[in-house]
Amino acid sequence: MISRRATLAGLLAGGGVATAGVLTNRYTRQWLFGFSANAAEPKSLAIPKVLTGEMRNGVRTYDLGLQKGVSQFFDGVDTATLGINGAYLGPTLKMRAGENVQMNVTNKIGEPSTLHWHGLHLPARADGGPHQVIGEGETWSTTFTVKQRASMFWYHSHMVPRTGPQVYQGLAGLIYVEDEETSRLDLPVEYGVDDIPLVLQDRAFNGDGSFLYSTSMPSLMMGMRGNVLLVNGTVRPYFEARTNKVRLRLLNGSNARFYTIGFDDGRTFQQIGSDGGLLESPFKTTQITLAPAERAQIIVDVSDGQPVRLRTFATPNSGMMMDRMMGDDLAFEVLDIIPNAQRAKSPEIPDRLISLDQPDATKAVRTRRFVLEMGGMMMMGGGSFSINGKTMDMNRIDETVRVNTTEIWQIENTSMMPHPLHIHDVQFRILDRNGVPPAPGEMGLKDTVVVAPREVVKLLLNFSDYTDPDRPYMYHCHILEHEDAGMMGQFVVTA
Ligand code: C2O
Ligand code: CU
Ligand code: CU
Repeated sequence: MISRRATLAGLLAGGGVATAGVLTNRYTRQWLFGFSANAAEPKSLAIPKVLTGEMRNGVRTYDLGLQKGVSQFFDGVDTATLGINGAYLGPTLKMRAGENVQMNVTNKIGEPSTLHWHGLHLPARADGGPHQVIGEGETWSTTFTVKQRASMFWYHSHMVPRTGPQVYQGLAGLIYVEDEETSRLDLPVEYGVDDIPLVLQDRAFNGDGSFLYSTSMPSLMMGMRGNVLLVNGTVRPYFEARTNKVRLRLLNGSNARFYTIGFDDGRTFQQIGSDGGLLESPFKTTQITLAPAERAQIIVDVSDGQPVRLRTFATPNSGMMMDRMMGDDLAFEVLDIIPNAQRAKSPEIPDRLISLDQPDATKAVRTRRFVLEMGGMMMMGGGSFSINGKTMDMNRIDETVRVNTTEIWQIENTSMMPHPLHIHDVQFRILDRNGVPPAPGEMGLKDTVVVAPREVVKLLLNFSDYTDPDRPYMYHCHILEHEDAGMMGQFVVTA
């Protein structure tokens, strides 16, 4: 192990590209990983069950249990996992804008954890971040009002510095928020029938079937990546379409891997939504790229009756030679869609979906700079991950923001790899990337934004309500190994 790592480190430091490619392809694909997707027969796609909660005194109440479980991703092979109200992942929580919600979260995973509502705008005390730790055997109860546009959000562990391993083992689930404006639209909305959530997660397995999770170099630097893609926990899933159009809600729920996603026949599809809501208008494309924590809603037309495969393509913007060296030119099957001979007609997708304010940079009262950095003896497994030269400190408030103000946050990346920066509390807008206006898929509401090496991305954020001088919200890289290593900061919203 030591000599293998030393050799790899030597190659990374200055070795030849060709040799490194061969070496690491063997490293990732043959030595390290006990299973590949080919070991599985295609299976029907698992659809997470829906939890609508229970109305108690007018409050929609969800009882959630973090628990240990055993899952079979490969037939006859047991994998120890974590889940919420189940063995792996959690139920899809459905709620409506304007509702009051209570979450009761009980932790039985044998170590402290948290449950964070990613993308939701709520008080810091309810955020489920690193300051709302739930000890083993304890229950954390919190309440908030749903103040969101309709979209797909998610929840996951946010335990410093164990978010990476806990999410990897399964502590994540989806949130569907609905609202009036969206309900009026003629979009596919039948959950599991023509409105399908897809949680994409790459995983690596040991020969005994257990999850392989490593934070040694290169997994620390690149983030933990696996060679098997799970979709809602299913390896090699297929889905039978009973309608001419299918709405897919994609979440990149991986710890670190970026995916560029499209269909194997190159067909166009319509993107209708981003992280925090629908786009103003759908737009046609053939590929989208999702970094960890990013979401997209797309509509695919299968009225030609032909089976089609959703797959990933080698990601151009995860940059660098390093990716190829790490075996990251892997392409994955995501989902085989098999149209049923009897299909229901689907409505035309409206040209206009919702309306959003034009982002107006002149409203900003100030600009804050955030510089994402990787440094130190990275190759030797040391290394530092920081924002503005600081690694995460639970006892330090990095930024103080005034409520009811609009700000520009300028994110700069001086490191060699792209980082998906996520900001709690707000759904923001992207003003520009190196001065260039955002692509159509990024013109809507976002809570996570990829910042490429040497890129400067300007965001417009509005901080409305929920002041709390003592409890911070987080901003961080959503490559979970980077987050756990300290690429995270804290801000408070004050009166
Ligand atoms: Cu998805 Cu701070 O988290
Ligand atoms: Cu979040
Ligand atoms: Cu990062």
